[in-house]
Amino acid sequence: MRKLILLCFLLFFSCSKDDSTMDPLCCVHESITYVPTENLKDLASFPVGNIVSANKILTNNQFRSVLLNDFNSITAENDMKMANIFIGPNSYDFSDGDIIIDFAQQNGVRVFGHALIWHSSIPNWLQNYSGTDNEFEQLIENYIKSTVSHFSQQKMLIDGEEVSVVAAWDVVNEAFTSQAESSIFRQRIGDNYLEKCFTWAREADADVKLFYNDYKIESIPSKLNQVLNLIDDFRINNIPIDGIGLQMHIDHIDPNLVQIKNHLDQIIEKDILIHFSELDVTVNRNVDISELTYERALSQENRYRDIVETYRRVPFENRFGITLWGMRDIDSWLLNHHNNPLEYPLLFDTGYNAKIAHRGFANGLIE
Ligand code: G3I
Repeated sequence: MRKLILLCFLLFFSCSKDDSTMDPLCCVHESITYVPTENLKDLASFPVGNIVSANKILTNNQFRSVLLNDFNSITAENDMKMANIFIGPNSYDFSDGDIIIDFAQQNGVRVFGHALIWHSSIPNWLQNYSGTDNEFEQLIENYIKSTVSHFSQQKMLIDGEEVSVVAAWDVVNEAFTSQAESSIFRQRIGDNYLEKCFTWAREADADVKLFYNDYKIESIPSKLNQVLNLIDDFRINNIPIDGIGLQMHIDHIDPNLVQIKNHLDQIIEKDILIHFSELDVTVNRNVDISELTYERALSQENRYRDIVETYRRVPFENRFGITLWGMRDIDSWLLNHHNNPLEYPLLFDTGYNAKIAHRGFANGLIE
Protein backbone atom coordinates (compact mmCIF):
# COMPACT_ATOMS: atom_id res chain seq x y z
CA MET A 1 0.00 0.00 0.00
CA ARG A 2 2.78 2.44 0.92
CA LYS A 3 4.44 1.71 -2.45
CA LEU A 4 1.20 2.52 -4.26
CA ILE A 5 0.83 5.83 -2.43
CA LEU A 6 4.46 6.69 -3.26
CA LEU A 7 3.90 5.81 -6.93
CA CYS A 8 0.79 8.05 -7.07
CA PHE A 9 2.75 10.87 -5.43
CA LEU A 10 5.60 10.57 -7.95
CA LEU A 11 3.19 10.46 -10.88
CA PHE A 12 1.35 13.52 -9.57
CA PHE A 13 4.60 15.40 -9.08
CA SER A 14 5.93 14.63 -12.57
CA CYS A 15 2.59 15.51 -14.21
CA SER A 16 2.28 18.85 -12.46
CA LYS A 17 5.80 19.98 -13.40
CA ASP A 18 5.04 20.78 -17.05
CA ASP A 19 2.37 23.15 -18.32
CA SER A 20 0.15 20.45 -19.73
CA THR A 21 -3.23 19.85 -18.14
CA MET A 22 -3.94 16.67 -16.19
CA ASP A 23 -7.07 14.66 -15.55
CA PRO A 24 -7.74 12.77 -12.25
CA LEU A 25 -6.15 9.61 -13.66
CA CYS A 26 -3.05 11.57 -14.45
CA CYS A 27 -3.40 11.31 -18.23
CA VAL A 28 -1.53 14.20 -19.84
CA HIS A 29 -3.39 16.35 -22.38
CA GLU A 30 -1.46 18.69 -24.57
CA SER A 31 -2.41 22.27 -23.77
CA ILE A 32 -3.23 25.05 -26.24
CA THR A 33 -2.01 27.67 -23.75
CA TYR A 34 1.28 28.02 -21.90
CA VAL A 35 2.98 30.27 -19.38
CA PRO A 36 5.58 32.45 -21.13
CA THR A 37 8.88 33.00 -19.39
CA GLU A 38 9.99 35.88 -21.60
CA ASN A 39 8.31 38.89 -23.17
CA LEU A 40 8.22 39.13 -26.96
CA LYS A 41 9.60 42.68 -27.04
CA ASP A 42 12.62 41.63 -24.95
CA LEU A 43 13.44 38.72 -27.25
CA ALA A 44 13.17 40.77 -30.45
CA SER A 45 15.83 42.70 -32.33
CA PHE A 46 13.06 44.89 -33.79
CA PRO A 47 9.78 46.47 -32.55
CA VAL A 48 6.92 44.06 -31.87
CA GLY A 49 3.50 45.66 -32.14
CA ASN A 50 -0.20 45.21 -31.63
CA ILE A 51 -3.33 47.24 -32.35
CA VAL A 52 -5.18 49.46 -29.92
CA SER A 53 -8.20 51.72 -29.65
CA ALA A 54 -8.56 54.79 -27.44
CA ASN A 55 -11.52 53.10 -25.79
CA LYS A 56 -9.56 49.97 -24.83
CA ILE A 57 -6.66 52.04 -23.54
CA LEU A 58 -8.99 54.06 -21.33
CA THR A 59 -11.23 51.26 -20.07
CA ASN A 60 -9.43 47.91 -20.08
CA ASN A 61 -6.69 47.44 -17.45
CA GLN A 62 -6.01 43.84 -18.39
CA PHE A 63 -5.60 44.75 -22.07
CA ARG A 64 -3.17 47.54 -21.16
CA SER A 65 -1.05 45.30 -18.99
CA VAL A 66 -0.85 42.46 -21.53
CA LEU A 67 -0.05 45.02 -24.22
CA LEU A 68 2.80 46.67 -22.32
CA ASN A 69 4.19 43.32 -21.23
CA ASP A 70 4.83 41.96 -24.72
CA PHE A 71 4.71 44.88 -27.15
CA ASN A 72 6.65 48.11 -27.77
CA SER A 73 4.85 49.41 -30.85
CA ILE A 74 1.17 50.22 -31.30
CA THR A 75 -1.06 50.88 -34.28
CA ALA A 76 -4.57 52.32 -34.04
CA GLU A 77 -6.91 49.66 -35.44
CA ASN A 78 -9.37 52.36 -36.57
CA ASP A 79 -8.99 55.60 -34.59
CA MET A 80 -6.39 57.25 -36.83
CA LYS A 81 -8.07 56.44 -40.16
CA MET A 82 -9.45 59.15 -42.40
CA ALA A 83 -13.13 58.36 -41.67
CA ASN A 84 -12.47 58.89 -37.95
CA ILE A 85 -10.37 62.04 -38.24
CA PHE A 86 -11.59 64.02 -41.26
CA ILE A 87 -15.00 65.12 -39.99
CA GLY A 88 -15.65 67.97 -42.46
CA PRO A 89 -13.88 70.30 -44.92
CA ASN A 90 -10.70 71.43 -43.15
CA SER A 91 -12.13 70.10 -39.90
CA TYR A 92 -10.43 67.34 -37.91
CA ASP A 93 -11.09 65.27 -34.79
CA PHE A 94 -7.74 64.11 -33.44
CA SER A 95 -9.07 63.29 -29.96
CA ASP A 96 -8.91 59.47 -30.07
CA GLY A 97 -5.52 59.57 -31.78
CA ASP A 98 -4.27 61.96 -29.08
CA ILE A 99 -5.32 59.50 -26.36
CA ILE A 100 -3.28 56.80 -28.11
CA ILE A 101 -0.25 59.07 -28.57
CA ASP A 102 -0.35 60.18 -24.90
CA PHE A 103 -0.49 56.56 -23.75
CA ALA A 104 2.43 55.66 -26.02
CA GLN A 105 4.47 58.63 -24.83
CA GLN A 106 3.87 57.83 -21.16
CA ASN A 107 4.95 54.23 -21.69
CA GLY A 108 7.78 54.77 -24.15
CA VAL A 109 6.24 52.74 -26.96
CA ARG A 110 6.27 53.67 -30.63
CA VAL A 111 3.14 54.54 -32.63
CA PHE A 112 2.75 53.41 -36.24
CA GLY A 113 0.30 55.78 -37.99
CA HIS A 114 -2.41 53.92 -39.91
CA ALA A 115 -3.63 54.99 -42.46
CA LEU A 116 -3.84 58.33 -44.28
CA ILE A 117 -5.45 57.25 -47.55
CA TRP A 118 -7.58 54.11 -47.89
CA HIS A 119 -10.61 53.68 -50.18
CA SER A 120 -12.40 51.81 -47.33
CA SER A 121 -12.16 54.69 -44.89
CA ILE A 122 -13.65 57.71 -46.64
CA PRO A 123 -16.09 59.85 -44.61
CA ASN A 124 -19.53 60.15 -46.22
CA TRP A 125 -19.34 63.91 -46.63
CA LEU A 126 -16.10 63.54 -48.65
CA GLN A 127 -17.42 60.66 -50.74
CA ASN A 128 -20.32 62.95 -51.73
CA TYR A 129 -18.25 66.12 -52.04
CA SER A 130 -19.67 68.36 -54.76
CA GLY A 131 -16.76 70.80 -55.18
CA THR A 132 -14.40 70.82 -58.15
CA ASP A 133 -11.54 68.34 -58.57
CA ASN A 134 -9.05 71.08 -57.69
CA GLU A 135 -10.94 71.86 -54.49
CA PHE A 136 -11.05 68.14 -53.68
CA GLU A 137 -7.30 67.84 -54.18
CA GLN A 138 -6.69 70.86 -51.96
CA LEU A 139 -8.81 69.25 -49.22
CA ILE A 140 -6.77 66.04 -49.36
CA GLU A 141 -3.48 67.93 -49.32
CA ASN A 142 -4.65 69.93 -46.28
CA TYR A 143 -5.90 66.75 -44.56
CA ILE A 144 -2.62 64.89 -45.04
CA LYS A 145 -0.47 67.84 -43.98
CA SER A 146 -2.67 68.72 -40.98
CA THR A 147 -2.82 65.12 -39.76
CA VAL A 148 0.88 64.35 -40.17
CA SER A 149 1.88 67.71 -38.62
CA HIS A 150 -0.50 67.31 -35.70
CA PHE A 151 0.82 63.89 -34.75
CA SER A 152 4.46 64.81 -35.34
CA GLN A 153 4.44 67.22 -32.39
CA GLN A 154 4.62 64.65 -29.58
CA LYS A 155 8.19 63.57 -28.76
CA MET A 156 9.74 61.12 -26.30
CA LEU A 157 13.20 60.05 -25.20
CA ILE A 158 14.34 56.60 -26.34
CA ASP A 159 17.88 55.63 -25.26
CA GLY A 160 18.58 59.30 -24.53
CA GLU A 161 17.54 60.41 -28.00
CA GLU A 162 14.48 62.57 -28.69
CA VAL A 163 12.22 60.91 -31.26
CA SER A 164 8.67 61.48 -32.50
CA VAL A 165 6.11 59.20 -30.85
CA VAL A 166 4.65 58.55 -34.31
CA ALA A 167 7.54 56.90 -36.08
CA ALA A 168 5.84 56.14 -39.39
CA TRP A 169 2.66 56.40 -41.47
CA ASP A 170 0.96 54.08 -43.86
CA VAL A 171 0.46 56.87 -46.38
CA VAL A 172 -1.58 54.84 -48.87
CA ASN A 173 -3.22 51.53 -48.06
CA GLU A 174 -4.24 48.89 -50.63
CA ALA A 175 -4.04 50.95 -53.84
CA PHE A 176 -3.81 47.94 -56.16
CA THR A 177 -7.40 46.72 -56.03
CA SER A 178 -10.39 47.36 -58.28
CA GLN A 179 -12.09 49.37 -55.51
CA ALA A 180 -9.02 51.58 -55.18
CA GLU A 181 -8.79 51.96 -58.95
CA SER A 182 -12.31 53.40 -59.00
CA SER A 183 -11.98 55.35 -55.73
CA ILE A 184 -12.42 59.11 -55.58
CA PHE A 185 -8.70 59.58 -55.04
CA ARG A 186 -7.68 58.32 -58.47
CA GLN A 187 -10.82 59.68 -60.12
CA ARG A 188 -10.49 63.21 -58.80
CA ILE A 189 -6.76 63.74 -58.23
CA GLY A 190 -5.50 61.62 -61.12
CA ASP A 191 -3.28 58.62 -61.73
CA ASN A 192 -0.41 60.26 -59.84
CA TYR A 193 -2.38 60.61 -56.58
CA LEU A 194 -0.04 58.22 -54.78
CA GLU A 195 2.99 60.32 -55.66
CA LYS A 196 1.21 63.46 -54.49
CA CYS A 197 0.09 61.94 -51.18
CA PHE A 198 3.60 60.75 -50.30
CA THR A 199 5.05 64.14 -51.25
CA TRP A 200 2.52 66.01 -49.08
CA ALA A 201 3.27 63.72 -46.14
CA ARG A 202 7.01 64.39 -46.49
CA GLU A 203 6.41 68.14 -46.73
CA ALA A 204 4.54 67.95 -43.41
CA ASP A 205 7.26 65.98 -41.59
CA ALA A 206 10.80 65.60 -42.88
CA ASP A 207 11.61 62.65 -40.60
CA VAL A 208 8.58 60.39 -40.23
CA LYS A 209 8.93 57.14 -42.19
CA LEU A 210 6.50 56.81 -45.10
CA PHE A 211 5.09 53.37 -45.96
CA TYR A 212 3.00 51.81 -48.69
CA ASN A 213 0.87 49.04 -47.10
CA ASP A 214 -0.99 46.18 -48.80
CA TYR A 215 -2.28 42.62 -48.43
CA LYS A 216 -1.21 39.44 -50.23
CA ILE A 217 2.09 40.95 -51.38
CA GLU A 218 3.55 37.67 -50.08
CA SER A 219 1.32 35.50 -52.22
CA ILE A 220 0.08 37.19 -55.41
CA PRO A 221 2.89 37.71 -57.98
CA SER A 222 1.10 40.56 -59.76
CA LYS A 223 0.62 42.40 -56.44
CA LEU A 224 4.31 41.93 -55.63
CA ASN A 225 5.26 43.32 -59.04
CA GLN A 226 3.02 46.35 -58.58
CA VAL A 227 4.76 47.08 -55.28
CA LEU A 228 8.24 46.57 -56.76
CA ASN A 229 7.34 48.88 -59.67
CA LEU A 230 5.99 51.48 -57.24
CA ILE A 231 9.33 51.52 -55.39
CA ASP A 232 11.26 51.86 -58.66
CA ASP A 233 8.97 54.58 -60.06
CA PHE A 234 9.10 56.58 -56.85
CA ARG A 235 12.87 56.39 -56.70
CA ILE A 236 13.34 57.37 -60.34
CA ASN A 237 11.04 60.37 -59.84
CA ASN A 238 12.42 61.41 -56.43
CA ILE A 239 9.15 60.69 -54.65
CA PRO A 240 9.75 59.90 -50.97
CA ILE A 241 9.09 56.34 -49.77
CA ASP A 242 10.82 54.63 -46.84
CA GLY A 243 9.08 51.32 -46.39
CA ILE A 244 6.67 48.61 -47.43
CA GLY A 245 4.05 47.11 -45.14
CA LEU A 246 3.14 43.50 -45.87
CA GLN A 247 -0.11 42.99 -43.99
CA MET A 248 0.39 39.20 -43.68
CA HIS A 249 -3.20 38.10 -43.13
CA ILE A 250 -2.33 34.46 -43.72
CA ASP A 251 -3.52 30.93 -42.99
CA HIS A 252 -1.70 28.21 -41.04
CA ILE A 253 -1.16 26.38 -44.35
CA ASP A 254 -1.41 28.97 -47.16
CA PRO A 255 0.54 30.50 -48.75
CA ASN A 256 3.48 28.13 -48.59
CA LEU A 257 6.67 29.28 -46.93
CA VAL A 258 8.80 28.96 -50.06
CA GLN A 259 6.59 31.46 -51.85
CA ILE A 260 6.54 33.86 -48.89
CA LYS A 261 10.36 33.77 -48.71
CA ASN A 262 10.68 34.26 -52.44
CA HIS A 263 8.40 37.31 -52.46
CA LEU A 264 10.00 38.76 -49.33
CA ASP A 265 13.49 38.35 -50.81
CA GLN A 266 12.48 40.41 -53.84
CA ILE A 267 11.42 43.29 -51.59
CA ILE A 268 14.57 42.89 -49.47
CA GLU A 269 16.60 43.40 -52.67
CA LYS A 270 15.16 46.92 -52.91
CA ASP A 271 16.94 47.88 -49.66
CA ILE A 272 13.84 49.43 -48.09
CA LEU A 273 12.28 49.27 -44.59
CA ILE A 274 9.96 46.29 -44.20
CA HIS A 275 7.06 46.00 -41.74
CA PHE A 276 4.90 42.91 -41.30
CA SER A 277 2.05 45.21 -40.48
CA GLU A 278 -1.14 43.22 -39.70
CA LEU A 279 -0.10 39.66 -38.92
CA ASP A 280 -2.73 37.04 -38.05
CA VAL A 281 -2.97 33.32 -38.84
CA THR A 282 -6.32 31.66 -39.50
CA VAL A 283 -6.74 27.99 -38.59
CA ASN A 284 -10.40 27.34 -39.41
CA ARG A 285 -11.16 28.75 -42.84
CA ASN A 286 -13.21 25.68 -43.73
CA VAL A 287 -15.02 25.74 -40.38
CA ASP A 288 -14.12 22.09 -39.83
CA ILE A 289 -13.40 22.43 -36.10
CA SER A 290 -15.83 23.63 -33.44
CA GLU A 291 -13.15 24.59 -30.93
CA LEU A 292 -9.41 25.15 -31.18
CA THR A 293 -7.89 21.67 -31.13
CA TYR A 294 -4.35 20.96 -29.91
CA GLU A 295 -3.38 19.74 -33.37
CA ARG A 296 -4.53 22.99 -35.01
CA ALA A 297 -3.00 25.13 -32.24
CA LEU A 298 0.32 23.33 -32.78
CA SER A 299 0.17 23.93 -36.52
CA GLN A 300 -0.47 27.62 -35.77
CA GLU A 301 2.45 27.69 -33.30
CA ASN A 302 4.78 26.34 -35.97
CA ARG A 303 3.41 28.79 -38.51
CA TYR A 304 4.01 31.81 -36.26
CA ARG A 305 7.56 30.55 -35.59
CA ASP A 306 8.22 30.13 -39.33
CA ILE A 307 6.85 33.57 -40.20
CA VAL A 308 8.88 35.35 -37.53
CA GLU A 309 11.98 33.40 -38.56
CA THR A 310 11.30 34.36 -42.17
CA TYR A 311 11.06 38.03 -41.21
CA ARG A 312 14.62 37.73 -39.88
CA ARG A 313 15.80 37.39 -43.50
CA VAL A 314 15.37 41.19 -43.57
CA PRO A 315 18.73 42.88 -42.82
CA PHE A 316 18.85 44.47 -39.33
CA GLU A 317 18.80 48.03 -40.63
CA ASN A 318 15.60 47.43 -42.61
CA ARG A 319 13.62 45.64 -39.87
CA PHE A 320 10.81 48.04 -38.97
CA GLY A 321 8.98 45.40 -36.97
CA ILE A 322 6.12 42.94 -36.84
CA THR A 323 2.67 44.09 -35.76
CA LEU A 324 -0.07 41.64 -34.83
CA TRP A 325 -3.61 42.57 -35.86
CA GLY A 326 -5.28 41.97 -32.50
CA MET A 327 -4.66 40.57 -29.04
CA ARG A 328 -7.28 37.89 -28.31
CA ASP A 329 -8.88 35.58 -30.84
CA ILE A 330 -12.32 37.01 -30.09
CA ASP A 331 -11.10 40.56 -30.82
CA SER A 332 -10.08 39.74 -34.39
CA TRP A 333 -11.68 41.46 -37.41
CA LEU A 334 -11.64 38.03 -39.08
CA LEU A 335 -14.56 36.67 -37.03
CA ASN A 336 -16.83 39.27 -38.65
CA HIS A 337 -15.10 39.31 -41.99
CA HIS A 338 -15.41 35.56 -42.54
CA ASN A 339 -18.67 35.43 -40.59
CA ASN A 340 -17.06 32.68 -38.51
CA PRO A 341 -17.07 33.02 -34.72
CA LEU A 342 -14.99 29.80 -34.58
CA GLU A 343 -11.77 31.39 -35.80
CA TYR A 344 -8.67 31.60 -33.60
CA PRO A 345 -6.06 33.70 -35.42
CA LEU A 346 -4.14 35.46 -32.63
CA LEU A 347 -1.76 34.90 -29.69
CA PHE A 348 -4.16 35.11 -26.72
CA ASP A 349 -7.37 33.32 -25.76
CA THR A 350 -10.47 34.95 -24.32
CA GLY A 351 -8.98 35.11 -20.81
CA TYR A 352 -5.78 36.75 -22.10
CA ASN A 353 -3.86 33.47 -21.60
CA ALA A 354 -0.95 33.12 -24.00
CA LYS A 355 -1.63 30.43 -26.61
CA ILE A 356 1.18 28.20 -27.79
CA ALA A 357 1.09 30.43 -30.91
CA HIS A 358 2.79 32.98 -28.63
CA ARG A 359 5.52 30.40 -27.93
CA GLY A 360 5.93 29.93 -31.68
CA PHE A 361 6.32 33.69 -32.14
CA ALA A 362 8.83 33.80 -29.27
CA ASN A 363 10.86 30.89 -30.67
CA GLY A 364 10.92 32.55 -34.09
CA LEU A 365 12.57 35.60 -32.51
CA ILE A 366 15.53 33.73 -31.08
CA GLU A 367 18.56 34.51 -33.24
O1 G3I B 1 -17.66 51.72 -34.10
C1 G3I B 1 -18.80 51.31 -34.88
C2 G3I B 1 -19.96 51.10 -34.01
O2 G3I B 1 -20.33 52.34 -33.42
C3 G3I B 1 -21.11 50.54 -34.85
O3 G3I B 1 -22.19 50.24 -34.02
C4 G3I B 1 -20.66 49.23 -35.54
C5 G3I B 1 -21.75 48.66 -36.45
O4 G3I B 1 -21.18 47.97 -37.53
O5 G3I B 1 -19.55 49.53 -36.34
C6 G3I B 1 -18.45 50.01 -35.60
O6 G3I B 1 -17.43 50.33 -36.47
C7 G3I B 1 -16.74 49.21 -37.02
C8 G3I B 1 -15.28 49.35 -36.67
O7 G3I B 1 -14.54 48.32 -37.30
C9 G3I B 1 -15.02 49.27 -35.16
O8 G3I B 1 -15.37 48.02 -34.68
C10 G3I B 1 -16.93 49.23 -38.51
O9 G3I B 1 -18.28 48.96 -38.84
C11 G3I B 1 -16.02 48.20 -39.16
O10 G3I B 1 -16.07 48.38 -40.58
C12 G3I B 1 -14.60 48.42 -38.70
O11 G3I B 1 -13.83 47.41 -39.29
C13 G3I B 1 -12.43 47.66 -39.33
C14 G3I B 1 -11.98 47.59 -40.80
O12 G3I B 1 -10.56 47.69 -40.87
C15 G3I B 1 -12.56 48.73 -41.62
O13 G3I B 1 -12.08 49.96 -41.18
C16 G3I B 1 -11.73 46.60 -38.50
O14 G3I B 1 -12.02 46.84 -37.12
C17 G3I B 1 -10.22 46.69 -38.71
O15 G3I B 1 -9.59 45.58 -38.08
C18 G3I B 1 -9.91 46.63 -40.20
O16 G3I B 1 -8.52 46.75 -40.38
C19 G3I B 1 -8.05 46.67 -41.73
C20 G3I B 1 -6.85 47.57 -41.85
O17 G3I B 1 -7.17 48.88 -41.42
C21 G3I B 1 -6.32 47.60 -43.28
N1 G3I B 1 -6.03 46.24 -43.75
C22 G3I B 1 -7.13 45.29 -43.59
C23 G3I B 1 -7.63 45.25 -42.15
C24 G3I B 1 -8.74 44.25 -42.00
O18 G3I B 1 -9.85 44.64 -42.76
